[in-house]
Amino acid sequence: MLSKSKICVILGSLLAIIGVLFLLYKSDDISVYVQGHRINKFTKHAGHYIMSSVEKESDDGSFSVILKWKPGILEQELKISPVLKDLRATFKVDANNECEFKITDLQDSRFQLPENEPFPFTKQRQGTKDKESNLFETEISQVGQKFYFELRRKQTQEIIFSTRNHPIYFTDKYLEISTNLDESMIFGLGDRRTDFIIKSGKYSFWTSDAVKIDDGTPGNQLYGFHPMYLRRDIKSNQFHVTLFRNAYGHQVDYKQHSHLTYKCIGGNIDFKFFIGDSNPETSIKLYHNYINGWVLHPFWVQGFHQCRWGYKNSDQLMDVWNSYNKYNIPLDSLWTDIDYMYKYQDFTIDFEKFNLQQMQQIYNLSDPNGVHWSSIVDVGIALESDAAYRGIDMNVFIQSGRTNKTFIGKVWPGETYFPDFNHPNSTDYWYEGLKNLTSFGLQQDGIWIDMNEFDSFVSGEIIPNQTIMDKILDYLAIAPPSLPFNPLGMEQIDHKTLSLSAKHYSGENALLVNATNNYTITQYDVHNLNGFGEGLATYRAAKRLGRKLTFILSRSTMFGSGRYVQHWNGDADSTWEYMRYSIPAIMNFNMYGIPFNGDDICGLFQDVTAELCARWQQLGSLYPFSRNHNGDNSISQEPYAFPDSPYVLSSTIKTLNIRYQLLKFYYHLFVKANGAGTIFRPLFWQYPADNQAYQQDMQFMIGDYLMAAPVMEQGDESQQVTYSCFYVPQNAVFYDFYNQTQIKSGKYCQNISFDAVVPLYIRAGKIVHIQDKTTVLRSRFLDNTFTLMVALNEDSFAEGSILTINDYNDDNNIITNCQESGNCVANILAKGQFKSTNIFELTLQVESESNNTNYQTIYVDKLIVSGISQNGEIYSKTIYLDQKPFVIDRDNITYQLEIQL
Ligand code: GLC
Repeated sequence: MLSKSKICVILGSLLAIIGVLFLLYKSDDISVYVQGHRINKFTKHAGHYIMSSVEKESDDGSFSVILKWKPGILEQELKISPVLKDLRATFKVDANNECEFKITDLQDSRFQLPENEPFPFTKQRQGTKDKESNLFETEISQVGQKFYFELRRKQTQEIIFSTRNHPIYFTDKYLEISTNLDESMIFGLGDRRTDFIIKSGKYSFWTSDAVKIDDGTPGNQLYGFHPMYLRRDIKSNQFHVTLFRNAYGHQVDYKQHSHLTYKCIGGNIDFKFFIGDSNPETSIKLYHNYINGWVLHPFWVQGFHQCRWGYKNSDQLMDVWNSYNKYNIPLDSLWTDIDYMYKYQDFTIDFEKFNLQQMQQIYNLSDPNGVHWSSIVDVGIALESDAAYRGIDMNVFIQSGRTNKTFIGKVWPGETYFPDFNHPNSTDYWYEGLKNLTSFGLQQDGIWIDMNEFDSFVSGEIIPNQTIMDKILDYLAIAPPSLPFNPLGMEQIDHKTLSLSAKHYSGENALLVNATNNYTITQYDVHNLNGFGEGLATYRAAKRLGRKLTFILSRSTMFGSGRYVQHWNGDADSTWEYMRYSIPAIMNFNMYGIPFNGDDICGLFQDVTAELCARWQQLGSLYPFSRNHNGDNSISQEPYAFPDSPYVLSSTIKTLNIRYQLLKFYYHLFVKANGAGTIFRPLFWQYPADNQAYQQDMQFMIGDYLMAAPVMEQGDESQQVTYSCFYVPQNAVFYDFYNQTQIKSGKYCQNISFDAVVPLYIRAGKIVHIQDKTTVLRSRFLDNTFTLMVALNEDSFAEGSILTINDYNDDNNIITNCQESGNCVANILAKGQFKSTNIFELTLQVESESNNTNYQTIYVDKLIVSGISQNGEIYSKTIYLDQKPFVIDRDNITYQLEIQL
């Protein structure tokens, strides 16, 4: 008889031998993990493309040429990724400041994103195109020579894109192309927590769920897919945007001032360039126009939000709501996370825990204390749930490439299916699910779509009834064997997401992408579109459900998502470091065309300290999207949850009151921008010629009006102050928002108490409208009376704008009068002059921004004028106009008043 331990040893050895044999058998596949290993095998003796012939040339500078592969000596080809030997390179002029460069196979048959809605596409512009007016020029190699392509800005000769002296590889599953860079700064490069100026490093592009900071090591990317960068040519100080219009996973290797290399696992080489000028906003606006602009959120969303994963029942929700009311903390929405669902199943409510009556009380907007309901919907559909049965009936789930049955992964409810948003039925399916939620008599005003990378708790798939041996073999074979390169470096590409072989609908009437030539679309092709597809389906459902302006908070996004959804930065640790990275991330998403964005205030994971939470509330009160959100296992972090540190509550109330004073102003920036451009910006946006301004990514601008310099570092606990410094750019003049003190260029340091309001400054020459006379706790109770903060510049001039509508809560009013048949923006100009030594005359003038500005009456009953300058002294004055308010109800009105100094 063998003893138990001997049996174990024998079994163990057998398993080990099988493992080793398997490793040897699969050794080629395992090399996927060794970054570049397979590719090196290919590139070692690689040949290159020759410029074979010119096919077409047009007067506007466009051309197409044919490339032919010249093999290298002893060239080894990878069977899994053969070289495409004949290619076409096309350069197309789209406008005098927009162009594209593309390399495809001769038939242009490879899978790619369509050039039409909902995807970004080139819009027709008026005017003729001719070579002379182009801001750029190109150069390519001579026929018979090794191919290169160079795009330069005509005026400065700076390089925009140049492949000179770099290889180009175009194989089935591996593409590589590089550009030289002159002295540069690069911003953007995808969804990641990092500094605003991108450092040299290797950056992955592949949507995934991660709580990581990206230091330039592959695999540290986050949820979204935004393969664009804004580049500043340091010598010329000009900006342009480059988009790699390819949705496949890839990696960008970036060496500052030297080069940038794209290494991609499929599709075409496809670049789109937006040539701006010395104002970074110019090229970003071109980019936003290309990606179809961004959607406006309803006004209430601009208010403050409280959320927590871990409000486990409606009693707890009631407690939070009551506390907010008791302490007079402004609030517009109280969120429910996955806890409200029955067994975490989508489109359900667990009524045992969440009492309908209590919910209806909290979310009753007729009650002055009522708030909006925003709640989560996860993308994974629990097996054995109603939504699963319906989905199977409608045939809308992603299929397994291995079993040919419905694909199974795992999310909060356990095993789940995943909707295939390419399937024609998926729009109806998703709409019906969301409609089901409304059938309970609750209106889900904010729809939060999460885990939509698609995130899964298993890597790859769950195969029902697998034997243990299959599981072991599966475990060893986790890397998809058919990739020659892994853009995530050491991290598996299907780490915590679906297998690359998972199949999508590929037939007629596909919603997003059509397959040609019987090609089966798999996750390999469209992984990066997952969040985009869900965002679009949710947007369509919300519209069908009658929402006029929509609020859909999506974790995963892609270029073009901003047309449908808003975003938050995803999971943050409750640390100073994470708080700091929130600012560059919000600036990035402004560049990516999703300007309404914010971070989890006070952080999601780990326990926050009182000091950090107070500082985060101060900073977060100026995020476009302002929400305190906590994780399931952390200590409570509502503003009142720190009784031993009362400054958290008091400073939050003060700072949120400032948010609400500015609420209509902040919202007006979004309305005025009309779907293109940035709102929350770096300092240098306004001061691009000041080199030092580029280093300040902890300060930010709101529009071109306000500069914030929040406290971002831990301070002195015993004194409850932090010594904090900020920078005012060259030639800049600002006025302190709170006391109107003038500050000019230079470095300013001060002690800022833990119990502070966020430090804020108005730019000289600007008028900001606020509502500072009554404290308001819900956005819907803000009235139509304003205070104008007039910050005069050295010519005693200032300008601003305001919405001439009096009901911000009626979406129809905003849509009709601000977006569709009218423009609701009026400009306000202020000009002052001394009439006598102590009388300063100020003239305010209102002018319609466009011919069709509609006027609904609004009032100005207070002015705070700063920057009145006389004999080297600077004065500020507050003037109450209650007796004779300035009524804004038509075009071209003026208001004059005398200010006694
Ligand atoms: C994800 C989200 C987080 C949410 C949690 C539970 O981690 O990013 O915000 O609270 O899931 O739903």
